[in-house]
Amino acid sequence: MSKEFTPIGELGKKVGEKVDLRGWIHRTRSGKDMTFIVLRDSTGTVQCVIKEGAKGFPDAQAALRESSLTLVGTVHKDPRAPTGVEVRVSELKIVGPAEAYPLKEGTNPEVLLDKRHLTIRSRKITMTLQVRSAILGAIHEFFRQRGFYEVQSPSITKMACEGGSTLFKVDYFGEEAYLSQSWQLHAEAGVHALEKLYCVAPAFRAEKSRTRQHLAEYWTAEAEMAWCTHEESLRLQEEMITHVVQTVLKKHKKELEELGADITKLEKVKAPFRRVSYREVLDMLKKDGIRMEWGDDLTGTQEKALSKHFQKPFFITDWPKEAKAFYMLENPKDPKTVLCADLEAPDGFGELIGGSARETDVKKLLANLKREKADPKPYEWYLEVRKFGSVPHCGFGLGIERLTMWICNLDHIRDAIEFPRTINRVYP
Ligand code: 4AD
Ligand code: MG
Repeated sequence: MSKEFTPIGELGKKVGEKVDLRGWIHRTRSGKDMTFIVLRDSTGTVQCVIKEGAKGFPDAQAALRESSLTLVGTVHKDPRAPTGVEVRVSELKIVGPAEAYPLKEGTNPEVLLDKRHLTIRSRKITMTLQVRSAILGAIHEFFRQRGFYEVQSPSITKMACEGGSTLFKVDYFGEEAYLSQSWQLHAEAGVHALEKLYCVAPAFRAEKSRTRQHLAEYWTAEAEMAWCTHEESLRLQEEMITHVVQTVLKKHKKELEELGADITKLEKVKAPFRRVSYREVLDMLKKDGIRMEWGDDLTGTQEKALSKHFQKPFFITDWPKEAKAFYMLENPKDPKTVLCADLEAPDGFGELIGGSARETDVKKLLANLKREKADPKPYEWYLEVRKFGSVPHCGFGLGIERLTMWICNLDHIRDAIEFPRTINRVYP
């Protein structure tokens, strides 16, 4: 029979009991006849005290940070400890000894990223990845509860969805192809079969920019709905964000507090979210003394200034045609704009979601592709979908790392993913 090990996070309920623990040495400090080990597992950390005479004491004294071990001990109340308990060890066994840890406090962030395979063990990254996992769980739950089918589309394609400038080229058996920027174009074909579909998938952007909000490989949750109006799509988006934030708060309040997230603010993230048009945005920024011209995309500074006016995420609707992708539906009330919306996070965390109603008029799509100087050939299948029972449809794409970054209040998007890919990093 294998032993039962208690997760460190549950020790608070075991005061006075004898427990078996397993984990890694987070910190260690030794006196002559006593060693203090802060032991870490995926659920938390706890201070363990082992005295001379206990079984395994010499090994405990010699063990370095990140050594893995098992121990037997008794749980004692300790009001000074962050977890409220301490473990007094009667027996300890090293499982995998560690070499001298190569990183110190204050190590350069780029070096920390070179050692990402080790630094993911930090409490900060561990907790962030736990929140991220809950975010993804809540997204799947949300779509499945609403009768959406999960669909996978190819990661290697012949066409750009979001413009040619951020395409990663792939040598596809001698033919030029690209890593997918979005599942959307294939999903638009799929709605004619399944009507409501979603995916969770990687997306690739050869972003030349070095910002705290861009990755070259990121994860996205995208949805596409047949027979859907733009307003219905916005409602779905705000309900999804509400569901995800409230579910994650219920499950991971402790971790979010430890990460420094603003719990009170997150508790208020409930639909509806405000809708402001692009024109209104120009006015708001003008009043703040910030210039932005018709057709411009928002810069980080503009995004930050604008988000000061909002406590919750907010939609920016009706963007100028020339600022957006070829597939967006012309706004029937204002043909200079398209029926689209970006959902912006508060506090300058940037765009969480991009979405729109889709153009179904083949002539207009061809004209838009021409405007983007794109070769229409690879889009032939996409245009053909419109010739066989086309229906009004809408869709959107959410950036998983952007959402994680905002919820966890992270300084940089790279900490929202286990192994980040950026312009200067494809290792480890
Ligand atoms: O706004 P985007 O480019 O929209 C699309 O890809 C549409 N095809 C989605 C759709 O309608 N199905 O990207 C969607 C979201 C953005 O709002 C942002 O959150 C995230 O993806 N995103 C990035 N996240 C990290 N790094 C990057 N380089 C990102 N580019 C976009
Ligand atoms: Mg966008």
